[in-house]
Amino acid sequence: MLYENLGINEQGHLTIGGLDAVDLAKEFGAPLYVLDEDKVRANCRTYVQALADYMPAGSYPLFAGKALCFKGLYPVLEEEGMGADVVSPGEIYTALAGGFPPERLYFHGNNKTDEDIQYALDSGVGHFIVDNHQELDKLDQYAGERGIRQKVLLRVTPGIDPHTLQAINTGRIDCQFGVPIETGQAARFVKAAVEKKNLDLLGFHSHIGSQIFEAEPFCDAVDILLDFAEQIRKGLGFTVRVLNLGGGFGVRYQESDPQVDIPGNIQALAEHLKAGCAAKDYPVPQILLEPGRSIVANAGVTLYEVGGVKTIEGYRSYITVNGGMTDNPRYALYRSPYTVLPASRMNDPRDFLCTVAGRCCESGDLIQENIQMPLAQRGDLIAVLTTGAYNFTMSSNYNRLCRPALVMLHEGKARLAVRRQTFEDLVACDL
Ligand code: LLP
Repeated sequence: MLYENLGINEQGHLTIGGLDAVDLAKEFGAPLYVLDEDKVRANCRTYVQALADYMPAGSYPLFAGKALCFKGLYPVLEEEGMGADVVSPGEIYTALAGGFPPERLYFHGNNKTDEDIQYALDSGVGHFIVDNHQELDKLDQYAGERGIRQKVLLRVTPGIDPHTLQAINTGRIDCQFGVPIETGQAARFVKAAVEKKNLDLLGFHSHIGSQIFEAEPFCDAVDILLDFAEQIRKGLGFTVRVLNLGGGFGVRYQESDPQVDIPGNIQALAEHLKAGCAAKDYPVPQILLEPGRSIVANAGVTLYEVGGVKTIEGYRSYITVNGGMTDNPRYALYRSPYTVLPASRMNDPRDFLCTVAGRCCESGDLIQENIQMPLAQRGDLIAVLTTGAYNFTMSSNYNRLCRPALVMLHEGKARLAVRRQTFEDLVACDL
């Protein structure tokens, strides 16, 4: 099994956190997002502990809400000592509705509107990660109007390609996020920020990409950021107190994916950082990380009911399920690999080569191609693993399908955290 929280019971059913997947689908319906809260908590602890053990005091992880965002998640994150990265007023609203302390929010985004900036200030959001000069000017103005001295980090691009998919790689120079170091623009950005009366510049932010399996690309980013910090200290007399290195540690979608040693990588990164600072006689800054995927992906499983099997003679066979690109668009978008399991017949021989297709009116609506499954029957339950990140948050109502419910599993009990949408929800905004 891909993860230690999965098992098989005497009925030959998949178990998640000790609970029978077939029972969960009976009780809450399918498709169903299942989130093992205990696994989320364990993932949070790994980061909180490693940052406390190896990085300077005050270092801590921020959960990237773009990976998963609903009210009931935020009390869990708070209890585990996480901060949170938010990218829109909607994410801020959700975090606050979940009781999350606003001072532990870090507001991202490359196009924060005037309304967004004011909403965040009025909500008491602790930190802004400023993306560009226009935002800097507006934030300074609105903070001044409110008599606030707003803490900020500046988003800079170190120009690193961590060898991930182009589509999820944001550290390159040519991208719409942040201001590049190499062209000299970032230095001018820092100068402008230091001169703002109503802004308290703490340091820099960079995010180099996603699905990164080792510390090396982060160490490369640290080298570039420290050289830049040193240049700024000489030029402006400004010393960086906080470095936010973004998110990006990878997760296992398939058995062939490597297992990331998160504490080991954070330790290696800390040693690299401390050595780099010592060489420059630079005070070691606090470190923030923004993991999203590696906190929630492996805690999530999606359950689907099989509608039928269709064999196109001379071509291939399809198993169709009662969800698809509406609840998981990642195969359609990125050809993402997934592990698909026959949740209601785990012990049956997997001798049927097939493609799992969704129910949307689109030929690209596939969950996974050319996998081995038992020959399925209508009513069978299928599980797709590692769907806790970027599935719920990227879901849609295409074809007017209702979004699935989400249940959280904690200490052997399941509770509904997001109810399934109804037809009334579908027309709720229609006038
Ligand atoms: N911080 C920043 C500024 C980010 O842009 C991201 C992800 C993260 C943190 C979290 O990265 P993670 O730890 O989750 O890798 N929709 C794509 C992923 C897009 C990621 C964008 N930024 C997917 O489904 O794979």
